[in-house]
Amino acid sequence: MEKKIKRIAVLTSGGDSPGMNAAIRAVVRTGIYYGLEVYGIMRGYQGLLEEDLFKMESRSVANIIQRGGTILKSARCKEFYTPEGRKKGYEVLKKNEIDGLVVIGGDGSFKGALNLSKEYDIPCIGLAGTIDKDIAGTDFTIGFDTAVNTAIEAIDKIRDTADAHDRLFIIEVMGRDAGYIALHSGIATGAENILIPERKTDAEAIITSLQEKERRKKLVNIIVVAEGDEYGGIELYRLIKERLPNLDTRLCTLGHIQRGGSPTGLDRLIASRMGYHAVECLLEGRYNVFVGILNNRMNYVPLEQVAKRKGRIAEEWMKVVETLST
Ligand code: F6P
Repeated sequence: MEKKIKRIAVLTSGGDSPGMNAAIRAVVRTGIYYGLEVYGIMRGYQGLLEEDLFKMESRSVANIIQRGGTILKSARCKEFYTPEGRKKGYEVLKKNEIDGLVVIGGDGSFKGALNLSKEYDIPCIGLAGTIDKDIAGTDFTIGFDTAVNTAIEAIDKIRDTADAHDRLFIIEVMGRDAGYIALHSGIATGAENILIPERKTDAEAIITSLQEKERRKKLVNIIVVAEGDEYGGIELYRLIKERLPNLDTRLCTLGHIQRGGSPTGLDRLIASRMGYHAVECLLEGRYNVFVGILNNRMNYVPLEQVAKRKGRIAEEWMKVVETLST
């Protein structure tokens, strides 16, 4: 049921992603534009349980659109998974007269928001902030484009060394359950192989093709592996070292450099649009949805239907990989 919204709060939860600050800025400024009071909650649901919140002004979000990380800090809060934890959270919101909550995070954070909204009368709006892009219903998630560009920059540099030394590099990129960073950065850097969790990895086929490449003296090769792939970087490295000891092979794990840094123009843009529409949702009574963008239109997905984007990598993409890497 629609209710009068006067005071809203915003938090960032789960793994940080570049563009979260741009989203916070958009929520705060849109809220103030519409005459609302906007509170910032520190450290995600953890800060909510500890009543760590403060009133934000337009100035509180000045000069942050270009900054990575999140000025509200982030955390993964186990207690909020429990009904008792959520009750505590609700009481804090009630005590501070918060009428609506904007949660910027991934699918785990959305689940917390969904449970809260089901159990208590607090409308929640999600903004997809995750570098993994593993949420169905949106073409973009805040931070993905920056992470891909960071990975591309790193892989380009590694290719220089691979080329100088005739080496095979296995490069592990982030993506616990999804291969999008691997796929996008791998295609954009001309990787010879891309391993992702959405596809069964045929290690024997990789060994055979490396043997064949060795025979024709193609020794410079890049294999991009998503961390969530069944092999992952380390296991693949061990296997290749064992089976192809003559190859000069190195492993490089890009890790958390992919989560930080100044957001790209695209991430700033989508974060600003999504943040603006999150407040509009609260004002229009479109509750308990997350704000996605599909085919360049806003797409409001009920939190109830939030699903991991999994196993849906188009075959066409893999065909591009295979065709271009020969
Ligand atoms: O969900 C984003 C992500 O970066 C994953 O790709 C990665 O597996 C995970 O977070 C790492 O989390 P943490 O920073 O808690 O180690």
